Amino acid sequence: MVFFGHCWPGMACLVIGSGGFLCATVMKKRCLFMKIRTTPEYKNPISKYVHEYMYWKKQQVIEGRLSNSQYENLFTERFSVDKDFYSGKRILDIGCGPRGSLEWADNAAQRVGLDPLAEAYEFIIQGSHEMEYVPDFAEKISFENDHFDIVTSINSLDHVDDLGVVIGEMKRVVKPGGHIFIAAEICKDKKPCEPSPVNWDLAELFEDEFEVMDTFCFSFYKGVNRSIQQGEIYDHDNPQTETGVLRLRLVKKQDC
Ligand SMILES: C[S@@+](CC[C@H](N)C(=O)[O-])C[C@H]1O[C@@H](n2cnc3c(N)ncnc32)[C@H](O)[C@@H]1O
Repeated sequence: MVFFGHCWPGMACLVIGSGGFLCATVMKKRCLFMKIRTTPEYKNPISKYVHEYMYWKKQQVIEGRLSNSQYENLFTERFSVDKDFYSGKRILDIGCGPRGSLEWADNAAQRVGLDPLAEAYEFIIQGSHEMEYVPDFAEKISFENDHFDIVTSINSLDHVDDLGVVIGEMKRVVKPGGHIFIAAEICKDKKPCEPSPVNWDLAELFEDEFEVMDTFCFSFYKGVNRSIQQGEIYDHDNPQTETGVLRLRLVKKQDC
């Protein structure tokens, strides 16, 4: 076992062992341990998950309780649907983070947030959410084929380890006639927490099984959510920068 990192109240450290690692958060002199599973076939870099966790822990310190009031507008108006669209449906949010991205969707039949750090994020969430969290990697989703009516990914596709495998899994778990909503940062360079750059032509990777309902390309403005809210259309003929945000709505063909 390897041990690294320092522990003091509110901080995290890691104990690495075979088949996973333990994330320890020391809170008010209590030391809590959480096992984060890794999948050997994807060689998940542990440093990525330390960064992801520490980012959100820092946000919690800055904001106090993490807010999630922005998500209803993002998942509805920004994707040209209303809240009733989600009524009685099963929703899966890939790479959901710890804010409670689906807390607003209290009319859904099932609302699942999937994130490999879901158990670690519980130190941040502390039981304050009603949505369900599943600690899966998007490369291996533990739900049967065609289980969900709607699968979403907001600012998470470039964070995964194997984009091609994740796209296959997203296609698999959506039922025929079901929807995929994607908001993705477009960036050519890999970063420690964003090892899978996403291209403007992402929709093409879905076209064998999905109809593309609409595609919007936005200029980058202070993050994925804000870029969509700002609504400035990216000019492909005169690119100021290669960074932008892609918003996609896809529907699974009935014969798939
Ligand atoms: C930038 S956060 C986005 C959180 C949330 N969707 C939002 O917009 O507020 C990216 C999330 O992707 C998750 N992630 C990283 N690798 C992943 C993987 N292989 N499968 C699923 N989620 C992953 C991270 O743990 C992190 O919580």
